[in-house]
Amino acid sequence: MVSFSDKDAAYLPRHIAIIMDGNGRWAQKRGMLRVKGHQEGANAVITTIETCARLGIKTLSLFAFSSENWKRPPSEVNALMQLLAKALKKQTPILHQNGIKVRVLGDLKALKPSLQESISYTQNLTENNLGLKLNIAINYGGKWDIVQACKKLALKVRDGDLDLERIDEELFNHALVLDEGVDLLIRTGGERRISNFLLWQCAYSEFYVTDLLWPDFNEQALFDAIDYYLSRERRFGMTSEQIKEISNGN
Ligand code: FPP
Repeated sequence: MVSFSDKDAAYLPRHIAIIMDGNGRWAQKRGMLRVKGHQEGANAVITTIETCARLGIKTLSLFAFSSENWKRPPSEVNALMQLLAKALKKQTPILHQNGIKVRVLGDLKALKPSLQESISYTQNLTENNLGLKLNIAINYGGKWDIVQACKKLALKVRDGDLDLERIDEELFNHALVLDEGVDLLIRTGGERRISNFLLWQCAYSEFYVTDLLWPDFNEQALFDAIDYYLSRERRFGMTSEQIKEISNGN
């Protein structure tokens, strides 16, 4: 079982986000339908959630369905939606028992009413849980998120509830669907793209790409990604010397 030393445990990423790519290729390599790859991908999701919860990671954000994924063949879109609905129903009691707080991020109006109801049920049930915060992005796009935040603030300004001059990065951050910056962004499947995921929130994240296809992503793979993160010096625009002074408490 994967574990970190006490010293490393203090520096684990608080927020891990994952672009789970490669389900289709995983299935095609085995002569199976792409849908089978998504089904296997759902098992990798469960392992990853369990491992993050055990390691004490604060937040895990998963890109399950992007606003662009509607362009896929209708049969694949339907299969993915069914899989998400099924997984949510089956896993909700288990997630709740483990103190996990679930949120679904995205423009949910476009989803089937039955899926919207399941999402509300899961979110309400787990709302007060204090364990891992699990965000599942469905019909989500980073550009959409930024636009919806702009609209929210513009409405307040129009109605006289907000002074234009008060809009700064912090206020804008809170208008987004997720106000927590990502520490570690993982992408499986080898592509080096952000694919419109958490654009604002990833401004200073460390980016780890692995050639592993998502269904093959396991506990060891997550460990390797975190190990990479632990080896990075996060400078946030400062120099290496400044960072060393800060960590020495000067
Ligand atoms: C990208 O692989 C993956 C997706 C579009 C779907 C991700 C969904 C899951 C892992 C299913 C379950 C999710 C939850 C939260 C239970 P791809 O199809 O683009 O792969 P390819 O690049 O090999 O074609």
